[in-house]
Amino acid sequence: MQVIESVAAFRQAYAEAEKPLGLVPTMGFLHEGHMTLVRRARAENATAAVSIFVNPTQFGPSEDFATYPRDMDSDLAKLREAGVDLVLAPPVEEVYPPGFDTYIDVGRIGERLEGEHRAGHFRGVATVVCKLLTIVRPNRAYFGQKDAQQCLVVKRLNDDLNLGSEIVICPTVRDTDGLALSSRNVYLSAVEREAALSLYGSLNLAQDLHSRGETDASSIRQRMRRLITESPLASIDYISIADADNLTELDIIDRPALISLAVRIGKTRLIDNVII
Ligand code: PAF
Repeated sequence: MQVIESVAAFRQAYAEAEKPLGLVPTMGFLHEGHMTLVRRARAENATAAVSIFVNPTQFGPSEDFATYPRDMDSDLAKLREAGVDLVLAPPVEEVYPPGFDTYIDVGRIGERLEGEHRAGHFRGVATVVCKLLTIVRPNRAYFGQKDAQQCLVVKRLNDDLNLGSEIVICPTVRDTDGLALSSRNVYLSAVEREAALSLYGSLNLAQDLHSRGETDASSIRQRMRRLITESPLASIDYISIADADNLTELDIIDRPALISLAVRIGKTRLIDNVII
């Protein structure tokens, strides 16, 4: 496995790599969710590449960029064991050298939900994903459905800017109790982790209500809200039931819908979703 820190060295490795090449973009601190993407990239491509880069431009000023969990040694051991060929792990100055001043202006799909609550987040995500897809030039790039809106933003970006990769979306990986895997779960105390189960619980409730014929979105949102606020540790940023393609909020569920939510459990902000 080659661990590469510079764009120039990656271009060289790309030239020598067998194609097709699959890329899993990550911010490191790899868990089973990431590793599922990595195994799929390994299985479907002649060359499997992973990027590890905690991207400063997608964090707001009061967010956790400085404290975001990092463990490069453990990440590299996992990737080696999974048979990854290339790891791109650039320092911040390699991705954003002095004078860097070009950003991707994400359209309407990035304005709602996470975009509304995390100003500039998708501008940062789209900019770094555009750079990664341009540097690595993967035939396929793998993303997790847990970040549902990110998946839509990346697909839009890839299509609109003709980046030329196939964007592969993989299902959310959950712990046995249903909590969606996330690097940020490490912030949760035992009691907070228990409270965090209400995210998946409320999504299950929504699915159940819908499967029993409920189509009124506001009534489902209200039931979800009631379940989550049973825990004094939980504070809701949003609960959304939206058109799964364009994220416009629905009154009546009469088409494929993305049910998504962002909830703070203590100081930790968690997101989760299902499509119905
Ligand atoms: O999902 C993530 O880990 C990040 O948003 C990504 C796609 C690696 C871009 O920094």
